[in-house]
Amino acid sequence: MNDQAQKLRNMISRLQNQKEARTIAVVSGKGGVGKSNFALNFAISLSQKKKKVLLFDLDIGMGNIDILLGLTPKKTIVHMFEESLTIQDVIEKGPESLSYVAAGSGLTEFFNMEKSAFAIFLQQLQNLMFEYDYIIFDMGAGMSTTHLNFVLAAHECFVITTTEPTSIMDAYSVIKFICSRRHDLPMHIMVNRATSTRDGEQAYERLALAVEQFLNKKIDLLGILPDDKHVVQAVQRQTPFILYNGRSHVSQSLLEVVSHYTGGSTHEKTAPFGFISRLKAVFTRKVD
Ligand SMILES: Nc1ncnc2c1ncn2[C@@H]1O[C@H](COP(=O)(O)OP(=O)(O)OP(=O)(O)O)[C@@H](O)[C@H]1O
Ligand SMILES: [Mg+2]
Repeated sequence: MNDQAQKLRNMISRLQNQKEARTIAVVSGKGGVGKSNFALNFAISLSQKKKKVLLFDLDIGMGNIDILLGLTPKKTIVHMFEESLTIQDVIEKGPESLSYVAAGSGLTEFFNMEKSAFAIFLQQLQNLMFEYDYIIFDMGAGMSTTHLNFVLAAHECFVITTTEPTSIMDAYSVIKFICSRRHDLPMHIMVNRATSTRDGEQAYERLALAVEQFLNKKIDLLGILPDDKHVVQAVQRQTPFILYNGRSHVSQSLLEVVSHYTGGSTHEKTAPFGFISRLKAVFTRKVD
């Protein structure tokens, strides 16, 4: 009996010492600001640093990560729901050992599933948490309930904006929306398509000031990416820009962002069960 209790204690302690993947939600207010390109190239750069990364295209039914990669996935999230497959069944291999899950095409009723099926889904996701260093969720334009739930459960959120006032305003709105539900979620601003470093810094400063004044929240700068024709060329070639031309301005800037991010103290793997228990809590409100 004592033996059994000891075994159980050992098992619990082993589980508590296991680290789980850091989950990152990539969002924006305005659509088309560069979320998918950033999420994909950021994920590949992390993979190049020998991190185990899973990129999850959550733009269900309209995803484009596979298109940006120039790959045709055998299975997608749409198949996962329609054919009751496991998450493992729909994980595909990309360049630089990146794992990704494609969102598929043709809209589907995502997460409108039975409680028992949802519990199985969470268990599968929990198993993945121990396999990866990072799980990155690329959101589509607009914030559906499903998107919001993943954002609220994530360890951190990257908000992408361009330097245009309309994009900054929409980024503020999405930050406000998220803050009203989870004020303590760590958020970082990624400024894309800047015409100069100063242009990017000014966009960040305007947004961060509004967030601090009106939402009482500090939000830091993840980095600035320039407006660079190599992104458009890479998209046309269906090759991630970091692989299309590693010496381009945008690729060099991205490498700096990734080095800065992985050099920081907050990027490491985290204590287990945080993400899954938060995800369960936010979804259960709807599933119950
Ligand atoms: N740094 C950049 N320099 C130049 N063009 C860029 C840059 N980033 C993105 N773009 C352009 O913007 C387009 C849209 O990018 P992307 O698909 O990544 O946006 P998105 O935010 O994911 O869009 P959606 O909201 O529809 O999911 C790209 O196809 C490219 O033409
Ligand atoms: Mg996108």
